[in-house]
Amino acid sequence: MARIFVTGSSEGLGLMAAQLLAREGHQVTLHARNDARSSDARRSLPPAEAVVVGDLSSIAEMRRVAEQVNALDRFNAVIHNAGVGYREPHRSETVDGLEHVFAINVLAPYLLTALVTPPERLVYLSSGMHTGGNASVDDPQWTTRRWNGAQAYADSKLFDVVLAFAIARLWPRVLSNALEPGWVSTKMGGPSAPDDLSLAPVTQAWLAVSHDPAARVTGQYFYHQKLHHVDPAARRTDLQDKLLSYCARLTSTPLPNER
Ligand SMILES: NC(=O)c1ccc[n+]([C@@H]2O[C@H](COP(=O)([O-])OP(=O)(O)OC[C@H]3O[C@@H](n4cnc5c(N)ncnc54)[C@H](OP(=O)(O)O)[C@@H]3O)[C@@H](O)[C@H]2O)c1
Repeated sequence: MARIFVTGSSEGLGLMAAQLLAREGHQVTLHARNDARSSDARRSLPPAEAVVVGDLSSIAEMRRVAEQVNALDRFNAVIHNAGVGYREPHRSETVDGLEHVFAINVLAPYLLTALVTPPERLVYLSSGMHTGGNASVDDPQWTTRRWNGAQAYADSKLFDVVLAFAIARLWPRVLSNALEPGWVSTKMGGPSAPDDLSLAPVTQAWLAVSHDPAARVTGQYFYHQKLHHVDPAARRTDLQDKLLSYCARLTSTPLPNER
């Protein structure tokens, strides 16, 4: 039995992965943006060990989430699943004055990774769209580019892989991997998404707990439990270091050395 924390698990793939893990006998802690969504999450998975609450668009709330997680003691795995999608019609700013897709999809997994007691395994949800991401930390806040929601999402999902691979390099005792779940019909994916929804939560759950040697790897990118094509930019250590120092500067929280 493993203990797993899943961000953004009040519905969608986070909840589905949590339900899958709970059915396999693992102990799952959920996460929701506020108390109302926490009740929804609890109703959807009554045996969950706990539901952690916090809006990941705010740096203060990201910290509050990390504190609640650390108060529950060390987890075996964390699945960084929470995200917002590719249809955001305009650039909007968070309470910290940051572009919100970047804040939720990139800064939140960075800060949680830096603050939560490192588990044995880290899993980051990316997307096939990451291959269209802009491999640069020149304008992550979209202050010089004209807003393009699909591009902002693609950039954020490339950064998720960059983050996963940076952690794999810097924390060699932790298994850190990224994956794409397929384009599936969740709230984010929309009703006409073509891929198989039943397969979409499987790989992240497998990477979090499986003893299969294929899952006990680090610095890899998966689709449906198989190694999959990843943008080679994600392996660039200069890009990894730039992203980490940018996130460290925004949050005043450097990534700690491996503990
Ligand atoms: N669905 C797809 O086709 C697809 C394809 C590729 C990758 N992905 C990735 O898979 C992951 C899960 O996507 P999904 O399809 O399950 O999306 P979803 O159904 O929209 O669920 C997203 C989850 O994240 C939570 N969340 C969003 N913003 C938050 C915030 N500011 N604070 C706290 N929680 C927040 C949502 O909470 P609320 O419900 O309260 O908003 C929800 O629980 C994402 O990282 C996404 O990029 C999805």
